[in-house]
Amino acid sequence: MSEMINIALPKGRLGERVYAIFEAAGRGCRSVTEDSRKLFFEDETARVRYFLVKPSDTHIYVERGAADIGVVGKDILLEYSPDVYELMDLGVGACRMVVAAKKNFEDETGGALRVATKFANIARGYYDGRGREIDIIRLGGSIELAPLTGLSDVIVDIMETGRTLLDNGMEPMQTITDISARLIANKVSYRFKHAEITSLCDAIRRSIGK
Ligand code: PRP
Repeated sequence: MSEMINIALPKGRLGERVYAIFEAAGRGCRSVTEDSRKLFFEDETARVRYFLVKPSDTHIYVERGAADIGVVGKDILLEYSPDVYELMDLGVGACRMVVAAKKNFEDETGGALRVATKFANIARGYYDGRGREIDIIRLGGSIELAPLTGLSDVIVDIMETGRTLLDNGMEPMQTITDISARLIANKVSYRFKHAEITSLCDAIRRSIGK
């Protein structure tokens, strides 16, 4: 019998879309969609176990081998550079990493540009490449509030529909990179569960038409 595959799935909207892809690939686990607070699901027949994790924690489960594979945004891979294999672009969760500011903002500050973000490494890499000195202000969420309250000059954050920026009188100034959901694998699991992971990848490719 083939080995079980342990899958770290991000909780929330992205997770629901990603789970639908796994289900269409014949690796569903009915109880995942039940209305409960459970975080761990197993389907003996489909040979899968799902763990529902916070999106920004997925790479930790996979890098340390608690999960064999997982799904993360490209933003997380760029920010944390986890030691995992990036297997596939799943083509969902498309958004952009942008620099944004209040409408009509001009970078005329002589000193360091104050940048509020959850993505300090991405922001630093972007501005280092431009030789612009910055002062990073790390926040956990509601990043758009920083320029509005005078906490920062700009933000580096994810934009999906653009609604949050618009509703707060802000606009994107530059795109740093495009983002989408990626399937990742633990490096040891990829060797020892190679047949199982490869066959799952093939089924996913067929189901998303890649
Ligand atoms: C993310 C991101 C933006 C928003 C962008 O926030 O940080 O605030 O979504 O989406 P939009 O362009 O469709 O408006 P999230 O909802 O993850 O909450 P957060 O404030 O805790 O980061």
